[in-house]
Amino acid sequence: ESSTEIDVSAIEPGQTVKAIFRKQPLFVRRLTPEEIVEAGETPIADLRDPETLDDRTKEGHRDMLITMGVCTHLGCVPQGAAEGEVKGEYGGYFCPCHGSHYDTAGRIRKGPAPTNLVVPEYAFTSDTIVTVG
Ligand code: FES
Repeated sequence: ESSTEIDVSAIEPGQTVKAIFRKQPLFVRRLTPEEIVEAGETPIADLRDPETLDDRTKEGHRDMLITMGVCTHLGCVPQGAAEGEVKGEYGGYFCPCHGSHYDTAGRIRKGPAPTNLVVPEYAFTSDTIVTVG
């Protein structure tokens, strides 16, 4: 299957860019320093689907959170990627279909979604280019 290349150099801290990967929405978000701290301070025992930010990002690029933009409940596109959209109670993404709240690492924190937003296979092929898939 095909891969998708994304230039992340212009993404500002706090900004999310939407892309398409294998016909599905993909969220490419540069975390702010505060969001990284928040994700790191969350006790693992509080998580329904226990993963750390390190589990979900690449070494040297802890600020780049790359997830599918597909709610793991029933597949709606969560809000919080576009400017002005609601990010939910945990500051990441919010799925309005049935009220799932994801945190700044894209982890499910409240609502019916069973698992974290999926992190696809990807690699940094340069300092600024991410190849997904
Ligand atoms: Fe997102 Fe149901 S599809 S909460």
